[in-house]
Amino acid sequence: MRVLVTGGAGYIGSVISERLLQRGDVPIVLDNFSQGHRTAVPPGVEVVQADLADIAALRNIFGGGTVEAVIHMAAVSIVGDSVRQPLRYYRENVANLLSFLEAMMRGGCRRIVFSSSAAVYGEPAEVPISEECPAHAVNPYGSTKLMGERILADAAAGDGALRFISLRYFNVAGATRAAGEMHHPETHLIPRVLEVALGERPHVELYGTDYSTADGTCIRDYIHVEDLAEAHVLALDRTSRSSGIYNLGNNRGYSVREVIETAARITGRKIPVENCPRRAGDPPQLIASHRKAADELGWSPRRGLEEMISSAWEWRLRNPRGYTE
Ligand code: UFG
Repeated sequence: MRVLVTGGAGYIGSVISERLLQRGDVPIVLDNFSQGHRTAVPPGVEVVQADLADIAALRNIFGGGTVEAVIHMAAVSIVGDSVRQPLRYYRENVANLLSFLEAMMRGGCRRIVFSSSAAVYGEPAEVPISEECPAHAVNPYGSTKLMGERILADAAAGDGALRFISLRYFNVAGATRAAGEMHHPETHLIPRVLEVALGERPHVELYGTDYSTADGTCIRDYIHVEDLAEAHVLALDRTSRSSGIYNLGNNRGYSVREVIETAARITGRKIPVENCPRRAGDPPQLIASHRKAADELGWSPRRGLEEMISSAWEWRLRNPRGYTE
């Protein structure tokens, strides 16, 4: 199957492209390289460098009618940035999604897997969070993902015969042999903690120690990027017959302190911590129920926090400067 992978040069996209190649699909990567890296794209994969706002490029991609399905990851995705620059988030994640879907459907492509987020739930009334839990995003990023899902659901109910699977990622971490996480600037907890272990940062800033959790720090559900990639392949197949929304997490939460302690143990390095005020837009606790993905997609995550941190650590040791290009 010819599958367009938007954001395919990014951390998650490169792992998904690798998985598609392994099972004999033909991924085509669309990326504007604002965060992606050329060297992260598996060898032999066609790359189109274009922005989602570039309608001519989209028409060109879909014009031949040969793209059979899309995995749509390209987006801006940093919670704190979205609080500071909300309009940018609505433009890139919502307005660009609309023109993308129009170009896609005009080209006869009807199947899409959409990257959504646990951020849609805001401060959930209960954990673990099931897909039925009311979604009340507490930051613009989460709102844009919720709007994206709404647009897809309406498009699927319309006469265009679109089928979509939306995947609500919890906190993605870990590395494969080839691909690891490296953003500029880096905002995510695990890569930052590893930067401290490597001596590239003096300490980890711990955002908030007065949350209503056992140790006062935020709890998140971490999921290995390889488990996440496997879910995308299953979801892609599922778009041949139905639409739906699925959580992707481990059904297990770890506090920020627990993550730091686990990283200190795995790396054998000191990880100094500086307690800081809360970061805007952070909900105290996000833990997934992944029962729906297990029941309907046949997916179950196999890798825990230790494997995420150790694979990310090994990748950083092998790639001290991250991606070169
Ligand atoms: N944190 C720190 N110090 C840091 C970085 C993070 O204390 O230097 C804390 C955060 O406050 C948060 C937790 O660690 O409590 C995790 O933060 P990340 O920045 O790693 O991840 P987020 O939970 O903010 O967001 C990530 C993705 C979002 C997604 C969300 C879903 O970036 O796209 O997971 O749970 F929506």
